[in-house]
Amino acid sequence: MDSTYSKIKTGIPGLDSIISGGLRSGRSISVSGPPGSGKSTFGLQYLYSGAKDFDEPGVFLTMSQNIDDIKNECKSHGWDYDVLIAEEKILMIDARPFKIQDELIGKDDSLYRGEQLPFEHLTKLLLSGIKRIEAKRLVIDSLTILTMQYSDKFYMRQGLQGMIQALENFGVTSLILSEHSENDEIPIEWFVTSGIIQLHHTRKEDTMERTLQVTKMRGVKHSEQIHLMEINSDGLHLMHPRLTP
Ligand SMILES: Nc1ncnc2c1ncn2[C@@H]1O[C@H](COP(=O)(O)OP(=O)(O)OP(=O)(O)O)[C@@H](O)[C@H]1O
Ligand SMILES: [Mg+2]
Repeated sequence: MDSTYSKIKTGIPGLDSIISGGLRSGRSISVSGPPGSGKSTFGLQYLYSGAKDFDEPGVFLTMSQNIDDIKNECKSHGWDYDVLIAEEKILMIDARPFKIQDELIGKDDSLYRGEQLPFEHLTKLLLSGIKRIEAKRLVIDSLTILTMQYSDKFYMRQGLQGMIQALENFGVTSLILSEHSENDEIPIEWFVTSGIIQLHHTRKEDTMERTLQVTKMRGVKHSEQIHLMEINSDGLHLMHPRLTP
């Protein structure tokens, strides 16, 4: 079964070999972890590698950091997003709830006006960007702020499910980034997406250790181990993939 679907290379050295060769094309995957665990780096590396090495354009939608800051962080890893944006291989969409406009803080009501509607708006926004550059990859960074406004989990799950279905029908392979720490309740996106990759950043003796865990990957044989991970000037990589299924 594993070899019958097309695979999307993650661009994260050491990761594809522990998920049977790559992500299932056209599926959505949650990438979750605590602050500073590497979620944005993971997403930006996935898009950069897709656009540069595999000719697969990608859309990055930010709901937290502004685009200039993101591009500067990319430069610290040697990833020149400006070139790929100019070539329409990457499209960055700013969907933060509050933006500075004419030196005033403006609120974006189109996505943040209460229950039910946000996912419809977000889906339209994403699909128009995806069509514009014929994107094959998508990263949403992060979903958490959008999900916070829901008091009713039913509407939240329904909206998210609709959005993911629309993206999957379109054939894009999406990473849905979200905040999650050890003792938090299980986030709804974990049930709705096809896969879950958890990033950990934990204390080990007198230092911090980064690890990656594949918690779920529907229809795919994957590693059950916790893999050591490192972030350096080249980005993110797994240290020693100990299992090749
Ligand atoms: N060039 C680099 N070399 C080594 N480590 C780096 C480098 N650039 C970033 N880092 C590490 O990566 C971390 C940031 O990772 P990233 O922004 O991807 O995390 P995140 O999970 O998205 O965090 P947040 O929840 O705040 O959005 C930094 O805190 C730093 O420890
Ligand atoms: Mg981040």
